[in-house]
Amino acid sequence: GFKGAIFDLDGVIVDTAKYHYLAWRWLARQHGFDFTEEDNERLKGVSRDRSLEILLEIGKVTVSEAEKKAMADLKNAKYVEYITGMDESELLPGAREYILCLRDAGVKIALGSASKNAAFILEKLSVTSLFDAVIDGTKTIKAKPDPEVFLLACRELRLLPEDCVVFEDAVAGVQAARAAGIRVVGIGNASQLTEANAVVGGLDELLG
Ligand code: G6P
Ligand code: MG
Repeated sequence: GFKGAIFDLDGVIVDTAKYHYLAWRWLARQHGFDFTEEDNERLKGVSRDRSLEILLEIGKVTVSEAEKKAMADLKNAKYVEYITGMDESELLPGAREYILCLRDAGVKIALGSASKNAAFILEKLSVTSLFDAVIDGTKTIKAKPDPEVFLLACRELRLLPEDCVVFEDAVAGVQAARAAGIRVVGIGNASQLTEANAVVGGLDELLG
């Protein structure tokens, strides 16, 4: 059993990966190169700045620090355009139900996301009140696979890592959880999330 559950946001609770992908692809095309869905896997769970570095690597594009900042801002503006139109229908199957189920069982709930848009998205999905703690990209210094985000979540829940479970869809996120000493349930594909303690296709599979 566990006393605390820490959820990643993008790809676990909500399907924003497609919007991140569209916004990055738009930016890539502006700079004359393409960005495939396969490339996009490398960006999952990774911070905005680090994502841009990877994107520029893929496009073999070199730009100044000032231009990097402008590019990251542009990508985010595009992304925010997409997510502004989002509503509860974009919660992933079982997400709300599973969290409610855990809450009923007395489990504390935290968000552990790299996104600086997390609070806005939780509001859009009307799920803010389900979380006892929200740790996101505005509160962390080090990006996943660094364990910081999950350790902060444990601390805010007042629980030890060994009493918690992380739910993650990204390789970097699974590594971050393991580095924090927290068990992790991978959401997605077992062949990709090889370091997870268990893997399911989605939170709906965990509903009893
Ligand atoms: C999550 C997503 C990443 C995204 C990162 C930062 O980890 O999986 O794709 O780049 O958050 O999100 P932000 O909303 O701050 O750009
Ligand atoms: Mg994710």
